[in-house]
Amino acid sequence: MNYQEAYKKLEKYGQLHVLKYYDELDNEGREALLTQIEQTDFSVLALCREKETLNPRGKIEPIGVMQLAEIDEKREEYTRIGLNAIRAGKVGAVLLAGGMGTRLGSDAPKGVYNIGLTKDVFIFQRLIENLMDVVREAETWIPLYVMTSDKNHDATVSFFEEKKYFGYNADYVTFFMQDMAPASDYEGKVYMEAKDKISTSPNGSGGWFLSMMKCGVAEKIRQAGVEWLNVFAVDNVLQRIADPCFVGATIDSNSAAGAKVVAKNAPDEKVGAMCLEDGRPSIVEYYDMTPELMEAKNDKGDPAYHFGVILNYLFRVRDLVDIVARELPLHIVEKKIPYLNEQGELVKPKEPNGYKFEQLVLDMIHELDSCLPYEVVREREFAPVKNKTGIDSVESARVLCQKNGIEL
Ligand code: UTP
Repeated sequence: MNYQEAYKKLEKYGQLHVLKYYDELDNEGREALLTQIEQTDFSVLALCREKETLNPRGKIEPIGVMQLAEIDEKREEYTRIGLNAIRAGKVGAVLLAGGMGTRLGSDAPKGVYNIGLTKDVFIFQRLIENLMDVVREAETWIPLYVMTSDKNHDATVSFFEEKKYFGYNADYVTFFMQDMAPASDYEGKVYMEAKDKISTSPNGSGGWFLSMMKCGVAEKIRQAGVEWLNVFAVDNVLQRIADPCFVGATIDSNSAAGAKVVAKNAPDEKVGAMCLEDGRPSIVEYYDMTPELMEAKNDKGDPAYHFGVILNYLFRVRDLVDIVARELPLHIVEKKIPYLNEQGELVKPKEPNGYKFEQLVLDMIHELDSCLPYEVVREREFAPVKNKTGIDSVESARVLCQKNGIEL
C-alpha cells in the first residue's frame, strides 16, 4: 500500500492522525506503518458508538446439563470411548495463550508466571503436568497447539525451549499466532504506540480457529486425522486437558461440542452460564444475568442457570470449518492502552483509557446445533489465575492446588 492509498483508507474511517509522524520516519518505519494500515480492519472502530446495543440477546431458556452422578454411572464407558479416540490420534488440545493478562499485571506471558512457594511451579508447567497424566494413561502423545499473539509469541516459544517443554515431546507442540485488532480511545480513534505503529490488542479468544486456518495449522490437523479439539485457557492451573471421560461423553452424546461447567458458587458469580438461546446452545454472560434469570428455576425446580463455563470446550473439527465463515459477535472491552501523547512520548496509563475489540470463544458455541454441558468438580478442576490477590487469584489458585496435593 502506498502513501496515497493509506491516506484514503484512513480518511474514510476518520483516522488520519495515524500519519502524524510519517514525515519523521525513516524508510523502514514508513514501510512498517503502511503495511499495518493495509492490514488493519478499521471498520470495527465505529461500533464503539453502538456498544450498548451491539449484541442483543435472544430468548434465554434452561439447558440440560450432564451432572456428576450421571457421569459417575457411565465413567468407565465414557473413559474407554475417550481413550480410544485419543489413541487413534483423533484428539488435539489447543492452549489459548494469546491474552494480555493485564489483571495479573506482568508484562511476560501469563504462562511463565511462577505460582510456586518453595520451588518453581510455572503456569505452563502445571498445564503440561496435567496433560501428561492423560499421555501416560493413553500411552500416546497428544498434539498440543499453542496460540500466542504478536505481543508474547517469542517470549512464549523461548520459555518452552528453555524449559525443554517440561518433558513434553516437542514434536507434538505447534505454536501459532492469533490476529491483532486496533485499540482506540472512547471515541473510536486508534491510539499510536510508536510513531510507526498503531496500538493493537489480541483480537480475542474467538479467533483461534480462523488463525489456525490462516497459518496452515488447520490443514495439518485435517491431514493428521484430528477430529476433536479441546480448547482451554492458560490461566486455570487445575485444568484437565483432553480428559478421556469428557471426550467420551461428548462423542457418545453425538454433540458438535462439549463444554465443561461447574456449579456456580453464587447466582451472581462472574462466570458465563450455559443456556439455550433461541433454541440453540449458548452462554449467557454474567453481565447479562438479570435478577429474573438469577432466580429462575428449571422444570425440576432447581436454579435454571446454575452451571458456569470454565473455558474448556471440546469442538468437533468438521463443524468448526463451517462456523468460522460466520461473523461472531464483537465485544468492546475497556482497557488500559499504552499510547503516544501530544508530545510523542509513550504513556502507560494506570486506568482504562479506551477500548479493545474482541471475539470470544464462548460465542462459537451458539453457532453450533448441539453442545453437551458436562459438569466437573469445581475444587478439582477450576483454579483460575486472573488477579494477583483476592478472587480468582494466584493466592486462591495456590490454596486449591494444595488441596489437590500439588506441591508448590
Ligand atoms: P481473559 O479473558 O482472562 O483475558 O482470557 P486475558 O487477556 O488473558 O487477561 P486480562 O483480561 O487482560 O487480565 C481468557 C483466555 O483466553 C486467552 C487468554 O490467554 C486466556 O487463556 N485469550 C484471551 C487469548 O488467547 N487471546 C485473546 O485475545 C484473549
